[in-house]
Amino acid sequence: MSRVLVVGGTGLCGRHVTLEAVRRGHEVSVASRRIPTEGDPAYVAGARYAVADVVTAYGLEEVLDRNDVLIDTTNGVGRASQTVLTVGTLNLLHAAARWGIGKAVLLSIINVDKSSYSYYRAKAAQEQIYRESALETRIVRTTQFHDLITSFFEAGARVGLIPAFSGVRFQTIATADVASILVDAATGAGEPDATETFAGPQILTSRQMAEQWKRATGRHGLIVPMPVPTAVGQVWKAGGNLARDRVAGTISYADWLTSRA
Ligand SMILES: NC(=O)c1ccc[n+]([C@@H]2O[C@H](COP(=O)([O-])OP(=O)(O)OC[C@H]3O[C@@H](n4cnc5c(N)ncnc54)[C@H](OP(=O)(O)O)[C@@H]3O)[C@@H](O)[C@H]2O)c1
Repeated sequence: MSRVLVVGGTGLCGRHVTLEAVRRGHEVSVASRRIPTEGDPAYVAGARYAVADVVTAYGLEEVLDRNDVLIDTTNGVGRASQTVLTVGTLNLLHAAARWGIGKAVLLSIINVDKSSYSYYRAKAAQEQIYRESALETRIVRTTQFHDLITSFFEAGARVGLIPAFSGVRFQTIATADVASILVDAATGAGEPDATETFAGPQILTSRQMAEQWKRATGRHGLIVPMPVPTAVGQVWKAGGNLARDRVAGTISYADWLTSRA
């Protein structure tokens, strides 16, 4: 049993990490700026919640105290992402080193250093901060989450047009699978200071995913070919979002859609 701190443990992926770590019998603390109450979808029974802000460093020392390892699933929205991912990461790792955290695990994105997209640049800078840290670290890069591509379909369906990115395939992964990989990295053995990539179980075109989404949700809308946003699109079009030899996900997009329904 380890004492695991999930920073950003109320977020889309973080809440699955919290759930998985509790399920495996670890003592789990969660740090974020807002604490969920019982009944909130982000709330996991058995985890201890505390307010902390990685950008201002408010509350960091209190949450880092009494933990062995941390898993970082923080994220920022829009312009704030640069600050959260860089200033926030520096604050977090400095405080973690002072409080004797044994290992820090970062959730990152496949080939994040291969694009000039500003968010990817901020994530690549965040990875570099981890590599330069005095702590033992692991960087877990994954393919896009099932949720990300689904959010494009949901947004498009509101105006009756479901985007199928031209010339792009995805190998998306479920956040529950990502959670399992992160908890393994935090609490198991493994190569210290490694950066490893993990991918979903299946490669599908954007159109195939859109068709599966329509079938599973019963939502209406015309599937339309759409150019993918340039900076990140270049990486996706070149297949930089795929890793055939790094399959780790077990939950296919179709099964994930069914479980959501
Ligand atoms: N989406 C994908 O396809 C994909 C693929 C691979 C990797 N990733 C990576 O996965 C990570 C998590 O993404 P996500 O979508 O799960 O994020 P998310 O839902 O936006 O959750 C972000 C978490 O960070 C917390 N947070 C934000 N600012 C904070 C601050 N200043 N101090 C402390 N906590 C803060 C949030 O809680 P509060 O707002 O309450 O503070 C929340 O718990 C990201 O780093 C992303 O790059 C994403």
